[in-house]
Amino acid sequence: MLSRSVINTIGLILCFFVVTIACSLLPDYVQPQELITPIPVSIPFDKRKALLGRKLFSDTILSKDNTLSCSSCHDLENGGDDGRRFSVGIKGKQGNINAPTVFNAVFNFAQFWDGRAGDLKEQAKAPITNPIEMASLFEDVISKLNKNPYYKSEFNKIYRDGVTEDNIVDAIAEFEKTLITPYSKFDNFLRGETVLSPAEADGYREFQSKGCIACHNGVNIGGNMYQKFGVIEKHRGKDHLGRYNVTKKEKDKFFFKVPTLRNIALTSPYFHDGDVLDLTEAVKVMAKYQLGRKLKEEEVASIVAFLKTLTGHPAEILIK
Ligand code: HEC
Ligand code: HEC
Repeated sequence: MLSRSVINTIGLILCFFVVTIACSLLPDYVQPQELITPIPVSIPFDKRKALLGRKLFSDTILSKDNTLSCSSCHDLENGGDDGRRFSVGIKGKQGNINAPTVFNAVFNFAQFWDGRAGDLKEQAKAPITNPIEMASLFEDVISKLNKNPYYKSEFNKIYRDGVTEDNIVDAIAEFEKTLITPYSKFDNFLRGETVLSPAEADGYREFQSKGCIACHNGVNIGGNMYQKFGVIEKHRGKDHLGRYNVTKKEKDKFFFKVPTLRNIALTSPYFHDGDVLDLTEAVKVMAKYQLGRKLKEEEVASIVAFLKTLTGHPAEILIK
């Protein structure tokens, strides 16, 4: 028995090497070339739920005093964030973290800067009940929605159990699936449908060769890993411990979800602490703290030109 398992193990190891060597011998054109993939033109969603979610998303009914909706802090006509350093919640209460965009959030591997919500449904519960955001109790929200004829009948048509906490966030999450922004110039380029200008192409080359792409990659050019803010040089911000707040592990201090760079030209101010207003400055901060590099002005300018090609088309559901 023992010898058989040893043989099996050796077999597996040999297999691994044969496959690895064979792969490295494959010609370039069959190997994956791009670490960034275009946003799909559409993803499947339930239209009835999404339309209900769209209404909920911009309805102040979700907040305790009916003054605030999701779109108060995630303006769908302006990049899906609020353009402020820190968001302003109910009765002018201020948070201490920058609102990320909701566009393409469906592609993130976890939600929030520290990844404390696993998916969009779990995420959506948080602002509704957060005392400095919408400050509601779900039982109050449910009773308000049940008093509203449109919501009452829509929920009952779509969900067997009518208005419930789970169904509210289900509809909102379904709507958020539609908030994808395909057809950016860069995606069109990846699909071979357009060419980049010389500055944009230089910027993409710099983005790869300087190492930005090591953290910002995949369909969201971010959103698929946690990384420390201040890898090479210690970052000055100490207000947030990032991922540590979730795991309580020393090694996770100052780790944040790498944010998406999609539509980045529209979502100033930058970073979890909203500390930087200007995209050029944000690129310099990244080069310094994440890569220990001081980039030349023209390198920064070309990276910014590249980043501007990441602005996509507004979500279809918003134009129809
Ligand atoms: C008062 C402002 C405010 C309101 C209202 C608000 N949000 Fe947010 N939203 C934020 C802030 C700030 C964050 C980041 C918080 C953090 O990471 O700790 C955030 C994070 C998110 C994220 C995570 C994005 C990512 O990349 O991690 C999603 C999705 C989101 N909000 C959707 C919603 C929905 C849906 C609603 C309504 C139910 C809503 N928000 C209401 C301010 C707000
Ligand atoms: C080691 C991983 C890593 C590398 C390398 C890296 N980044 Fe980042 N990037 C991050 C993380 C983490 C954040 C979020 C920091 C924070 O606010 O806490 C971020 C944030 C950003 C932001 C702000 C996004 C927003 O929504 O606020 C921009 C812009 C950005 N990076 C661009 C770049 C560019 C350009 C490069 C190369 C010069 C680069 N990054 C290299 C991990 C990295």
